[in-house]
Amino acid sequence: MSIENRFKLIRFTALIAIILYALLACTENGKPVRGFVLPEGDLAQGEQVFIDFNCQSCHTIPDVDFPEADFKAPFILEIGGEVYRVKNYGELLTAVVNPDHIISPKYVNLLKQAKRDVIISPMPYYGEEMTVAELIDLVEFLHAQYTRLQPQYYRGYYLTK
Ligand code: HEC
Repeated sequence: MSIENRFKLIRFTALIAIILYALLACTENGKPVRGFVLPEGDLAQGEQVFIDFNCQSCHTIPDVDFPEADFKAPFILEIGGEVYRVKNYGELLTAVVNPDHIISPKYVNLLKQAKRDVIISPMPYYGEEMTVAELIDLVEFLHAQYTRLQPQYYRGYYLTK
């Protein structure tokens, strides 16, 4: 094989390896996330689920008023608002049913400022009490609370506010 062809082969093999790696990176722990589709939920019902489960004792949502919670957590985490990347349904559902999977970096920062470490999420597990229909409405409601900001570019630089 000529040197040139050998280089071509190496380049081709490297390309295949990169594509395979990228495909594998799309699945987590080998569990595929493709094909995850929720039926459409009801926004108003979702808000009611949020209140019924007292999510407002630990969370605020910009421009949404909730009835006073019986208890207020020492660290309140805002959900929704203006973000550059809106969390998708899978991420929001995971945040509710498996809070420890990814501890919100926003929360980690909040505690860091108070010189505290985060070991686990204080968020309760709702799997025993929440119905699937409630979960679907809740995720629909949560998703609607985010507004996607358009990033601004200036001569190739990425600007954030
Ligand atoms: C006892 C306090 C507490 C309660 C009650 C609670 N959460 Fe949380 N929640 C947290 C904390 C703390 C975090 C950040 C740590 C983490 O990612 O789990 C969080 C994270 C989240 C996130 C991910 C936010 C992000 O920006 O990554 C969502 C979504 C969420 N909660 C929704 C809910 C919903 C919906 C309810 C009610 C069914 C609820 N939470 C009830 C404390 C709570």
